Amino acid sequence: MTDLIVIGSMNVDQIVVTSRIPKIGETVIGSSFQIVPGGKGANQAVAASRLGGKVDFIGCVGADLNGTFLIENFKKNNVNTSNIIKIPNATTGIASINVCNGENNIIVVPGANYLITKDIIDKYKDKILNSKIVLLQLEIPFEVVEYIVDLCFENKVPVILNPAPASKLNDNIINKVTYLTPNEHEATFIFNSSDYESLVMKYPNKLIITLGEDGAICSDGKKVLKFPAYDVPIVDTTGAGDTFNGAFSLSIIKDNDISKAIIYANRAAALKIQKMGAQTGMPTFNEMEEFDEKIRNLK
Ligand code: RIB
Repeated sequence: MTDLIVIGSMNVDQIVVTSRIPKIGETVIGSSFQIVPGGKGANQAVAASRLGGKVDFIGCVGADLNGTFLIENFKKNNVNTSNIIKIPNATTGIASINVCNGENNIIVVPGANYLITKDIIDKYKDKILNSKIVLLQLEIPFEVVEYIVDLCFENKVPVILNPAPASKLNDNIINKVTYLTPNEHEATFIFNSSDYESLVMKYPNKLIITLGEDGAICSDGKKVLKFPAYDVPIVDTTGAGDTFNGAFSLSIIKDNDISKAIIYANRAAALKIQKMGAQTGMPTFNEMEEFDEKIRNLK
């Protein structure tokens, strides 16, 4: 049985590091450029796999060199590639990422990611329903996400939805997902409120809001639970949320304990942000053990 199925996007990330983001019409000189695997879905799959999960992925790439590059990257990271569809005449998704003082802004051109359909989901229905958890983001068409959420709900398969990039969610989706994991900007956009404590109280044991350097919060219905972030040097926050979601999913599968899963996910994200690139810094199982040991010794 697969631990986790991620259904989502695969992108080639083109990263420019700059000390200043240009204004419209302006040119600035950057300091470095890299082309690396990315995409929120792919990143979350790689994060979970590096930590020891048995991970399947369903998604689409173009029949181009970028698609091959991303499939090879999955193989290196032990993510099952047999459910990835290469779509003729489509281009593989790309993301143009500016990194400035550790923070980023991103433009995604979805390409083949937007060509996944409900029919493709039906083809993999048995596989989806036989996984322990389904992990979704919003870099594929919204109607396909909703279709998967309905399918999983009817068949009692837990779903984690990381609503990124932000999009308005309807009550059907919010009610049917098991966990919803926006960052603070996404939460504000989705719920029209930045009163995060009230929001998590409204959706106990479901809504987990990640707050960047302030960690993450959720509630057990009686009180707000706060989980501080780790104080580490920040190189690049790209993929921190993805690392959080991959690690959170695995921990939920293992222990089904939301607090434990958030602590674990915060630790994985703390390791990731110390390196450049979405997937580069994602920790392995052993690196997480070493980090845990370090934290225990500090106490
Ligand atoms: O969350 C980071 C990811 O967002 C990047 O890897 C990029 O591809 C975009 O999808």
